[in-house]
Amino acid sequence: MRYLTAGESHGPQLTTILEGIPAGLSLVAEDINTELARRQKGHGRGRRMQIEKDTVEILSGVRHGYTLGSPITLVVENNDWKHWTKIMGSEPIADDELEEVKRKISRPRPGHADLNGAIKYGHRDMRNVLERSSARETTVRVAAGAVAKKLLQQLGIKVAGHVLEIGGIQANNPVYNSLEELEVVTEESPVRCFDKEAELKMMQAIDDAKKNGDSIGGVVEVIVEGMPVGVGSYVQYDRKLDAKIAAAVMSVNAFKGVEFGIGFEAARLPGSQVHDEILWNEQEGYTRKTNNLGGLEGGMSNGMPIVVRGVMKPIPTLYKPLKSVDIETKEEFEASIERSDSCAVPAASVVAEAVVAWEIANAIVEQFGQDRMDLIADNVEKMRSYAREF
Ligand SMILES: Cc1cc2nc3c(=O)[nH]c(=O)nc-3n(C[C@H](O)[C@H](O)[C@H](O)COP(=O)(O)O)c2cc1C
Repeated sequence: MRYLTAGESHGPQLTTILEGIPAGLSLVAEDINTELARRQKGHGRGRRMQIEKDTVEILSGVRHGYTLGSPITLVVENNDWKHWTKIMGSEPIADDELEEVKRKISRPRPGHADLNGAIKYGHRDMRNVLERSSARETTVRVAAGAVAKKLLQQLGIKVAGHVLEIGGIQANNPVYNSLEELEVVTEESPVRCFDKEAELKMMQAIDDAKKNGDSIGGVVEVIVEGMPVGVGSYVQYDRKLDAKIAAAVMSVNAFKGVEFGIGFEAARLPGSQVHDEILWNEQEGYTRKTNNLGGLEGGMSNGMPIVVRGVMKPIPTLYKPLKSVDIETKEEFEASIERSDSCAVPAASVVAEAVVAWEIANAIVEQFGQDRMDLIADNVEKMRSYAREF
């Protein structure tokens, strides 16, 4: 499975083409719209989220509610496009209109793609960079992830995400009975946090950041339950499932680090307290006493829940000025403001879920038969019972 995305933040639409999705997967627009709506929620989101109510159009690859095996085209229109047709239009515009409509940007924001992208592609107008480097693109990554989540759901594999930390406020280690419970509680939370006490403090931290013209980051966690054993491989670097998931999480805008299970904490503990002891029982087969390694050993799933965390830096567009240099005058200036959120960690947890779901679905489809959902489901089930009795 693979996908590409296309589209600018203020262009007419965002598009993704998904290729290699097996035939026979039940899929309707509502499956995707639910996920798009989740990405738009969260305390600390700005005005754009009120303008855009994202909905998907499925333009190919699905017929009467089922995938065909052919490429699936998904489109999300930018409702704001009507105000940007001249500024972002593809046709040339007259010289006398140019300065007026272009809303040229010559002031790069620290922490963004603006300056490097402008130098790389030779753009004197940095709008040509930020329109694509903007996290608006994650809308269609969430759409692709929604398809992956649907595929996994039909194989009894569940993916859920939540927020562990915002602006230095840490949630208590969440103790939940099932992923469903985690989902229900965090879905109701304006910051997607399980811990109610931390939730209030996180919201306060976001409000404070906003008041100060600042931004804050945080940590999100994605959990995948129901994995068969042995997805991924140890035999080659580019077949390791942990490496693929890590790359996917790192590719989300503003993500700066990834860890599995206890992650960096493993550096501070002896091996006897890190490695998960192996157990066996008739009902489940092989399990682990603990899950410090987050469900992955040797680049493969071990059947325990996959637990991956990502750290998101604070959003780079600030109302509080940071020093930068105007590329036209080379003079120092302070502040260049596009409208912006003060914290997007809750939304980012939905994006992280989506990209992890895609990697897992891709690995499963590759390993268990690529063309038909019914064959893949059979093969996954066979692997589960084989591993139980092994
Ligand atoms: C869901 C989400 C929303 C974001 N919203 C904004 C935003 O409103 N303003 C902004 O400057 N950056 C935002 N970002 C982060 C930037 O897109 C990102 O920092 C930028 O593309 C530079 O890439 P890098 O931080 O990965 O190096 C957002 C990121 C995510 C995941």
